[in-house]
Parts: sequence; C-alpha cells; structure tokens
Amino acid sequence: MDTTQAPNSGKQDYTKLEKRHIKVNEINYRNNLESDYTEKIVTLEKSFDYASNNDHYWGKPEQSVLYGTPLYEAASESQKLALNHLYWVGHYDHIAAAEASTIHYNQVTAGVFSQIGDYQGICSNLKHEAEQEKSHIHAFHHIFSKTKIALLGKRTMGLKLNKNSSSHQNWSQKLISEFQQSFSQNFQYDALRFLSKTLLKSQTYHYSSYLQDLDEKREPLTALSKGALGMAIPSPLLQFFAFCWGSSPFLACQYYTYRYAANTVLKNYEHNYFQHFKELEKEEKFTPIPTAVSYYHCLDESFHMTTSQLIARDMYKEFPQPTVSEKVIANLVFYLMQRGFLGGLPGGLIGSFVHESSMMPLYYRILRSPLFDMPAQEALHWMEKCLCHEHQGFHVQTQYHQRALKTMSGLASSLDYLWPINREMRIMAAGGSISKAIENNIKAFNEFREIAVV
Ligand SMILES: [Fe+2]
Ligand SMILES: [Fe+2]
Repeated sequence: MDTTQAPNSGKQDYTKLEKRHIKVNEINYRNNLESDYTEKIVTLEKSFDYASNNDHYWGKPEQSVLYGTPLYEAASESQKLALNHLYWVGHYDHIAAAEASTIHYNQVTAGVFSQIGDYQGICSNLKHEAEQEKSHIHAFHHIFSKTKIALLGKRTMGLKLNKNSSSHQNWSQKLISEFQQSFSQNFQYDALRFLSKTLLKSQTYHYSSYLQDLDEKREPLTALSKGALGMAIPSPLLQFFAFCWGSSPFLACQYYTYRYAANTVLKNYEHNYFQHFKELEKEEKFTPIPTAVSYYHCLDESFHMTTSQLIARDMYKEFPQPTVSEKVIANLVFYLMQRGFLGGLPGGLIGSFVHESSMMPLYYRILRSPLFDMPAQEALHWMEKCLCHEHQGFHVQTQYHQRALKTMSGLASSLDYLWPINREMRIMAAGGSISKAIENNIKAFNEFREIAVV
C-alpha cells in the first residue's frame, strides 16, 4: 500500500466552504487591521517601570504563583503581591517564547498556502499577525525582565548541581551525549528533510516557498524549540514536523490545531486580566500597566484565535484528503501536544497544563531569592508541602482545566482524521486528576531534591 497517495487526490467540490473561509478571513483580518490594540501595547510598554506598579494586584489573587498552597497562606501581604506579579512574569515568559515560534511557523505554512489560489488573504493575515507578535514579545520582555530583576535580583538563581548525587552523573552523561550529538546534527538534518520529502512525495508541489528560499540560501530550517511546541516535542522530531508543516497543505493546516491549543490556554487565564481591567475601569481605579497590556493582548489574540480555528477546523477540508502518512504525522503531533502541553495539572501555576516538574526550578528560585530568603533545606521543605499534598490551588486549577478541556474538545471532536485518543482528548482529560498530579509531583520532586544544592 502506498501511504503517500491521497485517497482522493483531486480537489473536491468545497465551493461553499472556500467561500466561507474567504469571507471569515476577510472580516477577521479587516477588524484586526482597523483595531489599534497593538499600538496601545507599544505605548504602554514604554511607560512601564516596576516601582510605579508594584503596589497593586495585576490580576485576581488566584493569578499568583503558588496560590492556595500552605506557603501562600503563610506569606505576608507584600509577598502575596509579589507572587501575583510573578505569575504574570511566569506566564508571559512562556507566551513570548510561544509567539516567537508562531512568527516562524506562520511563515513556514504561509509559504505553502501562497502557492495555491484563493489563499492570498490568509497569507496577508498571517504576515500581519506575525508582525503583531513581534510587538507583543517586545512588550512582554520589557515588563517581565524589569519585574524579575526587581523581585528576584540580577543574580542567576538557577539550579546548582549537587556533585555527590547520582543525578550529577546523569547530567554529565547528558552533556557528553549532547556534545556527541552536535557532530551528527548535519546528518540528522538532511535525514529528516529527506524523510519528510519521501513520506509526503505526492504533495511536493506545495513545498513551502519559505523553505525553498532557505534551501536556495543553504540556510537550515531552525526548529524553534521553546514555548508550547518545545514543551511537548523533542527538538529533532520538531524539526521533522516543521518540514512536514511546510510540505503539504493538509499538514500546514494541521499546525493550526497546535496554535489553537496555545490560544486556548492563553485565553483561559488572560480573560481574567481582561475582566480585572474592566472592573478597574468601571470603578475609575488605577490600572497597572501589565493588566492593561494583558487586556489589549487578549483583544489582539481573539483575532489570532479566530484564524487558528478557521484554518484548523475548516480550511483543511478544502484540500485533498490526507494520505495515510499525513494522518499518522498529524495524530502524532496532536498526541504529543496533549501529553506535553495539556497533560499536566500544576498546583502552583494555575492556568498552565504542563507537568509541574518543569516549574520546580522557578519555585525554588523564588523561595531562595530575597523575596523569601530561604536556605536550601527550608525551600525544599516548603516545595514538598506545596507540591506533594492536596490544597486549594489544585481545586481552582481543576476549574481552569475543565474550561480549557471543553474548548479543546470542541475543536478535536470535529476533526475527522484524528484517532479516538486525540478526538476525545483522552490524555488531557486524564491529566485533570488531582491525585495523579500529586503522584507525578512526588516522583519528580524526589528527583529534583537530588540535584538541588542542600
Ligand atoms: Fe501575541
Ligand atoms: Fe497570537
């Protein structure tokens, strides 16, 4: 069986759908062009300094790092305020990384759509959205860098390794293997490129013009491995998927299921900042700049989410049905996304659904910083209390999880090419269990304690 051939390789009669996508995109793009939210963000960013915003909550109390934990209960009012600001820092640090990858993959996929008639409008929109992301990233960096320095100090408080621990040897081995890997990177790059071209050979006439430009300039395709994608997909595999997203219209559309997931997670907590802004405005109270930036960003991102939904849910149907290979790749991407980006239930950072192990260095850094000024043993003691036992934070997090799961299920249930495990969002749904999250945290924390300096 030739897995590279589409069951129906001719373009189907989707005239009505095509018209709908053109119309929805036109309206969405026009509304975005006519708005001035990005300009407002740029202006706000320029006037930010932490000292003028540090006396106010930037969002609801539950939008605080380690909210609802025993540590939060024991924290002073000024520490609670700082944890509220660090929540903004923690989330927008991730968003900045995710939006950097959006800029990149918008170009990769637009390079596919641009070769097909009727899609110039989508390409212009994607280009405009990428430009907006540049301004967003700049503003986030400016605000979270100043805030981080003000609260945690300039000193790098990253993890120091305990030289006596067995995990230290694992780290050394890891470094050696990374060194060895660097030798084989060129070979790996060519192999992945070859593999994607072979698997998708029936679609090569839609090879991304962006990738073609890179090929001509002999520049490698960088797989941006930070943000939502990097959390879920190992770097070499991400590079392979990047070639795939830039090689077939179906897979180019499928990338937008991922972008839609990132939009969903963001909107789930950013909407709280939106409401907080509205309440402050109504009561004519002082509005902290980060709250206002989140408010306008939420408005900008609503256009982006509409685009993601349009491409992920509707536009893929306008192209030839996916081949067996394309379906496997699409399902693998979706599966990894569920597992790595939506499969966790961190009790200390409400609104994020990655596994809490990835947050542990951040918590440790906060506890060791001048903000809490804890010796290593005390920091680890509090981390154990906050991560390995049930508390209110987990219960609030569960509500966020259910909301995001409902939105994602709405999209996934409509994608006929997904396997049941993906179409029914089974991994994300299973990740919503508090007892499972705590069980995972206990294992991860024991490993973390091994490598932290004591
Ligand atoms: Fe953005
Ligand atoms: Fe966006």
